[in-house]
Amino acid sequence: MNILILGSGGREHAFSWKMIKSPLCKKLFIAPGNAGTASCGTNVALNIKDFPQIKSFVIENEIDMVVVGPEEPLVLGIYDFFKNDDALKNIPVIGPSQHGAMLEGSKAFAKKFMEEFNIPTAGYREFDGTNVEAGLKYIATQTPPIVLKADGLAAGKGVLILPTIEEAQKEFKEMLGGKFGNAGSRVVIEEFLDGIEFSVFVLTDGKSYKVLPIAKDYKRIGENDEGLNTGGMGAVSPVPFVDKELMQKVEERIIKPTIEGIQKRGFAYEGFVFIGLIRVNNEPYVIEYNCRMGDPETEVVLPRLKNDLLQMFKSLSEGNLENEKIEIDERAATTMFLVSGGYPEAYEKGKTIQGLDAINDSIIFHGGTRMEAGKILTNGGRVLAITSYGEDFKAALAVSKKNAAQVDFVGKYYRKDIGFDL
Ligand code: AMP
Ligand code: GLY
Repeated sequence: MNILILGSGGREHAFSWKMIKSPLCKKLFIAPGNAGTASCGTNVALNIKDFPQIKSFVIENEIDMVVVGPEEPLVLGIYDFFKNDDALKNIPVIGPSQHGAMLEGSKAFAKKFMEEFNIPTAGYREFDGTNVEAGLKYIATQTPPIVLKADGLAAGKGVLILPTIEEAQKEFKEMLGGKFGNAGSRVVIEEFLDGIEFSVFVLTDGKSYKVLPIAKDYKRIGENDEGLNTGGMGAVSPVPFVDKELMQKVEERIIKPTIEGIQKRGFAYEGFVFIGLIRVNNEPYVIEYNCRMGDPETEVVLPRLKNDLLQMFKSLSEGNLENEKIEIDERAATTMFLVSGGYPEAYEKGKTIQGLDAINDSIIFHGGTRMEAGKILTNGGRVLAITSYGEDFKAALAVSKKNAAQVDFVGKYYRKDIGFDL
């Protein structure tokens, strides 16, 4: 099969790495890709939001399947674009329809969905520009910390946790006033849940589903989970505190009703549901849904998945996902992201990366990198994810840490305490 992967991060490099292990994979293209994906297939300079441009490429290159990495093309309806086009409708797109992607694209939509299907989550109310006063009054009745969420996609920056009522009211007004553009024209105010987070990943055709290895990511830039939010600084899989009992609750109370909800609402969904969870008093609650895999979670989940993922995608698109049996590597996997100095605020690009060739006991997944004149240069905030296996997460982290110290570029920063709370 000829495969086109959309995206350019560590997640897409991990997908590429996994695809080329499959005997079914003939040609692999990645749009736009990075220096890492270029070692697995051919990078192509497509705009992943320009669907007509993608269509021309898919037809000219006889693409048999499109795997969508990030949420944006999904929320913009790439799945529906393919299904509604006579020339494209038989080419599987791994991802949900635009309707299904609303689980990530609108926080208010996701909360209503969870309410309807009785899925445990924080209590909430939603407000828009027509009821600002009611929102301010509602905030005044809440016990801080107060959680405010911009309804739409806000590049991971749309959630604010405020320590006082006054700050929450101020931010609420600013959100509705356009702080996050259109994404904030509706705001969800949520009950604060105090617990520890983890994530489950489900591959589904909208009817049956398969649960992939669980993971936990570390989103803050600073050690001890301090400082600004990032896309994710590292991840571990499995998650030691998630035992069989907790996982059973997750499956019964969250995964099953989510898939049933997708079915009952009639969403076309042929892709991943990434469920962000929090454990409070040993009970799981949903923090958020995403309609795609996580980054850097993919960089630990796929290395632990023994199955031929392309075969799974093929079965999924043929309605046979049910017959696939998940096989998981018993070892732990961890990843540590090396990031550009200054990230997640302003940072410089174009720094030469050195020391990659000497590493042979980790898998290096490229995020923001590019190749120029035979050199690999930094090209983004999150530059390289260093994934290692080990008997447990500590052993795996020791290998990632040793190798993180060996790779170098000007401004390199990484968290040395991934897994600190496990
Ligand atoms: P989200 O984009 O919805 O995943 O939110 C980003 C982060 O905000 C989550 O990973 C949590 O750490 C935190 N968060 C979101 N909702 C809540 C909540 N109801 N209670 C506590 N923390 C939350
Ligand atoms: N690492 C979190 C995410 O991909 O949304």
